[in-house]
Amino acid sequence: MFQLTRSVTWQALEGLQQTTANDRIRDYFAADPKRFEKMSLRVGGLFLDYSKQPVSDEVLETLIELAEHSALVQRRAQMFSGDIINVTEDRPVLHTALRNLGQGPLKVDGKDVMPEIQRTREQIRAFSEAVRSGEWTGFDGQRIKDVINIGIGGSDLGPNMACRALLKYRHPELSFHFVSNVDGAHIQKVLSRLDPATTLFIVSTKTFSTQETLLNAHTARRWFLDNAGPDADVGAHFIAASTNKAAAMEFGIREENVFEFWAWVGGRYSMWSSIGLPIALSIGFEGFMELLEGAYEMDQHFLAAPFAENMPVLMALIGIWHINFQGAETQAIVPYDQALHQLPAFLQQLDMESNGKSVDIFGHPVDYKTGPIVWGQTGSNGQHAFFQLLHQGTRYVPIDFIASLKPEPGMEEHHFALLTNMLAQANAFMEGSLKGGEGSGSRPDPYSCPGNRPSSVLLLDELTPKTLGALIALYEHKVFVQGVIWNINSFDQWGVQLGKRIAGEISERIDAHSQDFDASTQGLLALVRGHFPRGSGEPAPGGGKKGKAKG
Ligand code: F6P
Repeated sequence: MFQLTRSVTWQALEGLQQTTANDRIRDYFAADPKRFEKMSLRVGGLFLDYSKQPVSDEVLETLIELAEHSALVQRRAQMFSGDIINVTEDRPVLHTALRNLGQGPLKVDGKDVMPEIQRTREQIRAFSEAVRSGEWTGFDGQRIKDVINIGIGGSDLGPNMACRALLKYRHPELSFHFVSNVDGAHIQKVLSRLDPATTLFIVSTKTFSTQETLLNAHTARRWFLDNAGPDADVGAHFIAASTNKAAAMEFGIREENVFEFWAWVGGRYSMWSSIGLPIALSIGFEGFMELLEGAYEMDQHFLAAPFAENMPVLMALIGIWHINFQGAETQAIVPYDQALHQLPAFLQQLDMESNGKSVDIFGHPVDYKTGPIVWGQTGSNGQHAFFQLLHQGTRYVPIDFIASLKPEPGMEEHHFALLTNMLAQANAFMEGSLKGGEGSGSRPDPYSCPGNRPSSVLLLDELTPKTLGALIALYEHKVFVQGVIWNINSFDQWGVQLGKRIAGEISERIDAHSQDFDASTQGLLALVRGHFPRGSGEPAPGGGKKGKAKG
C-alpha cells in the first residue's frame, strides 16, 4: 500500500525543510531578481503573487513533483467526468457540471445530466425574471420586495457570501436576508421588519431534513399565516431549493416552485445550483451566468495548465508545504475588500468540512496533518485585531491577502489607502522591523518584528460576478488538490452527522432518561430542563416572546 510519508518526494521535502529552515524569504529576492516574475501568474481576471512564500526554487520543484507523483491527474479527470470519487456516499462529485458551458454530455449512471441541469437553469431564469420584473406577485397582488433565504451551511454560506460580494449589482427594489441559526433571535430579527404580502421565502436545503432549517421554515410559515391571514396563499410566497421534492411539497411548496438539484452536488459546492437562486434574484440571471462563466474558465485552466503554471495546484502545494513541513496549523484569509467580508466564513466550510478528515479513502488513519483551521477577517480591520499576533506572536500563520484593483468611482482615496495598507502588511510580514539589531529578527526585542512570515497576494482586476466565480472555483480546486495529495475523501462529512444524532437523542431524552449521558451533560441538562416543561422543548410559561410583524 502506498504510504505518502514514505515516498521519496515527501522525504525530500522533509530534508528541504531542514536545509531551508533558516532561510529568509527576503534573501530569495536578493538571490533572484526575477523571483516576482517567476512566482506570480494571471488567470483571467485574477493575478496571484506567491513570491513572498518561504519556498525556494528547489522546494517548489519538489512540491510539483509531489503533485506529479500523486493521483491528481487521474482523480481530476474522474471528478470532471462524473466517476464515483465520493466513495463513502457512493456518489460522483459534479459541481463542475453545473457551470459546464461546453456542449459535451456528462453521464451519471449512464444518463446525460446536462439536459436536467439546463432545464433547472431555465427554471431559475424564468423565475428570477418574473420576480425582478414584478410579474410574480404575492397573495394580494403586490410585487416582492424582500427575499429571505432559510438555510444553513452550504445552503446559506455560498449565496449569502455572493449576494454580499455583488451587492453593487443588486436589483434596487429587492432586499435580501439570510436566516440560518436555529437561535430564534435570528429569524425574529428578520421577520420583525417585514411585510408578509411582499416577502418571498426560499427554503434552501439539500436534504430537506436539517433541523435548524426546518424549524426556521415552519416558524416563517406560521408567521406568514399569522400576519397574512389563515387563507393567504403559502404557495405564492414559499419556494424551495432541494434534492427532496416530495418533502418540499409536503411542507406546502408547489411542485413547480421546487428548484431541484442533485445528490452529486455537495452542499459546500452548491452555490452554482438552485441554491444559488438568491444570487440570480439579486444580480439577475445574466449576472448569475457570468458567475458560472468565471468558474468555468477557472475549471478549464485547472484542467489544462501544467502544474507549474496551475493556480489551484500551486496554492494547494504551498498550503501543503505550510501544513505538512512548516508546521502551520491554520490558514488566514484576509480580504482587503469589505464586499468579501463573508468570504472567510464560506471558505471555512469549503476547506474544513472537505479536508477536516483523519482517515484516507481506504479508511486507514493518516500519519500526516490534513486540512488546516481556516479563519480570517477583512483588512484593514484585521490590522487592529489580530495582526499583532501575526507580526510578533509565536505562531506560524500563512496568510492569503485578497483584493480588487479597481476603485469604486468617488472612492479612489479610500481604495488607495486600502491597497497600500495591504501591500505594506505583506511587505512587513516578510521584512520584519529593525530596532537596534544588526538585521531584522537577529536580536528579538519588544520593538522588533522578526519578519519572514509568509503570505500570498491574490488580486482581482475588479470584483465582478465573473471574477468572483473564478475566485470560488480556484479555492474549490485548491481544496480538491490537497485532498487528493492527502488521499482523503473531501466530499463526505460524517463528522457532522454525529452531532446531529446526539442532538436528537438529547432533545428526546431531556427528561428522566438523561442518565444515558455523561455526568456533565446530565448536570447541564438539569439546568436546561428547569426552563422547559419536561421534555416538551417548549418554553416554560412566561418564557420566550413572540415577535409580531409590522403591517
Ligand atoms: O454541515 C453539514 C451539512 O450537511 C452541510 O454539508 C450542508 O451544507 C448543511 O449541513 C446543510 O444541509 P442541507 O442543505 O441538507 O440542509
